Amino acid sequence: MSLMQKHAVFERNSIVLLIGILIVVAIGGLVEIVPLFYLKSTIETVTGMRPYSPLELAGRNIFIREGCYLCHSQMIRPMRDEIERYGHFSLAAESQYDHPFQWGSKRTGPDLARVGGKYSDDWHVAHLTDPRSVVPASVMPPYAFLKDAPLKADRIGEDMKTLRLEGVPYTDEDIANASADLKAQVSPDGVADNLLARYPKAVVRDFDGNPNKLSEMDALIAYLQMLGTLVDFSTYDDKANLR
Ligand code: HEC
Repeated sequence: MSLMQKHAVFERNSIVLLIGILIVVAIGGLVEIVPLFYLKSTIETVTGMRPYSPLELAGRNIFIREGCYLCHSQMIRPMRDEIERYGHFSLAAESQYDHPFQWGSKRTGPDLARVGGKYSDDWHVAHLTDPRSVVPASVMPPYAFLKDAPLKADRIGEDMKTLRLEGVPYTDEDIANASADLKAQVSPDGVADNLLARYPKAVVRDFDGNPNKLSEMDALIAYLQMLGTLVDFSTYDDKANLR
């Protein structure tokens, strides 16, 4: 029997063909999935990564609520043009505490994974209030209302508890101090020792230009200003990690 004739068995009998397909697909699946069970971790540990501070988390919630991810990615791909424009490519560890992650799939605007520290708070306030006041050709919508909206974050501790269920290592102490830490991060005098002990490198200041009000603008800018600032790439060894 020639090979063509053997193949005719599959072509003439749909059940045999179906079983054949299932076997082939199962082999392909096993080859992909089985090795994952033998890895200690699929995410390398990187020094500097920490969970979001309560204020940053509140800002991230606003980022998600407003759908910023529909126009902005947070994932720099390991290609030269991206690295020259945005900085070091994103590491898996940098989104390990993101539930849901904000990689995005569309870039109407630029990638934001390393936007932290790129602009002043004043620039962000002006840009979010009226993007065209600072970037005349911008198609980004204005979010001026964020400055007037008081930040409702009385349940931020509950958010942290939920994230803990998903594996984010918030301690009982972090959760008990959530509201105090949130307020401490907008203190205009920059004093927040307890917060900084729990969340190293947290940026402490009034973000929205109005120290008398804790606004949604404060939280969103606190989040934007920390994006991509945690990992110290001067100590990060690409070659050791790209084996
Ligand atoms: C309709 C698409 C769209 C949406 C939605 C959108 N943006 Fe933008 N964004 C843009 C575009 C286009 C630019 C580039 C022009 C500019 O700077 O305004 C931009 C620029 C930016 C920049 C400056 C980035 C850089 O590196 O220069 C930041 C920060 C930013 N957006 C934040 C946000 C935030 C926060 C939200 C949600 C509250 C948001 N954007 C929603 C389209 C969008």
